Amino acid sequence: MKKIAILGCVHADFSSVRDFIGAHPDVSEVVCLGDFGFWFSQEEAMKDTTMWRKCGHKVRTNIDRLNSSKFKTFSIPVHFITGNHDQYDYTSDEVSKLKDLNIFPLPRVGIITKFGINIAILSGIFSPVKFEWELHELSGRLKRFYTRTDLPLLRNNDKKHISLFLTHEAAKGVMPTGNKSKNRKETDQGTWVPAYILDILKPDYYMHAHHHINYKHTGVNDTEIYGLGLLNRDKSSHAIITVENDSITSVE
Ligand SMILES: [Fe+2]
Repeated sequence: MKKIAILGCVHADFSSVRDFIGAHPDVSEVVCLGDFGFWFSQEEAMKDTTMWRKCGHKVRTNIDRLNSSKFKTFSIPVHFITGNHDQYDYTSDEVSKLKDLNIFPLPRVGIITKFGINIAILSGIFSPVKFEWELHELSGRLKRFYTRTDLPLLRNNDKKHISLFLTHEAAKGVMPTGNKSKNRKETDQGTWVPAYILDILKPDYYMHAHHHINYKHTGVNDTEIYGLGLLNRDKSSHAIITVENDSITSVE
């Protein structure tokens, strides 16, 4: 039996991840659902102007710590998918530096077997224009978009049982709407692609970040759905799954 924590957006605030790990000693690994915010170069990070305006000081501090070897290795493995505020390409040298820090980028799109369960992943966000592009046409920050050429990786031809579907952006039809908080919009902010994949894969659980709202929703087929918020603004922006005998037996 193992407990894995799924976290919402981190936005380069790695102290919030360290605090979470310290407060949950029973969790053996964590997964961030995008907007992890780990850059090796300030020049690259500054190309993301929105992120740089909002949390550039944190990114700069992290890069300074990296360069002075003061960035502490995480005590347990920290995995992440990419959102719309991330570094998208790592050199082999950078991947090995990440590994030394106990940080592991997950595949951008696909079905993987990890923690003893099958997990489907769709990183990034939707753009009606970029969706029609071919994957090889995307470079740099354009890799924050998924395209129609990503989707065959989620076909599940082997008909595996999918325990968990992870995306950055919400599927259409699952998020709460209304004005109860500033992040809760009147209209559904989700998009059709993850909704389409959700309907095909019928996972036991579906979790996303991006919209910075924590909620739980049940009602799409038999899939239980969790929206996860911004960790440094709301400490409850996580879901802890218990994995036993190749399946998720509980979520807290
Ligand atoms: Fe975010």
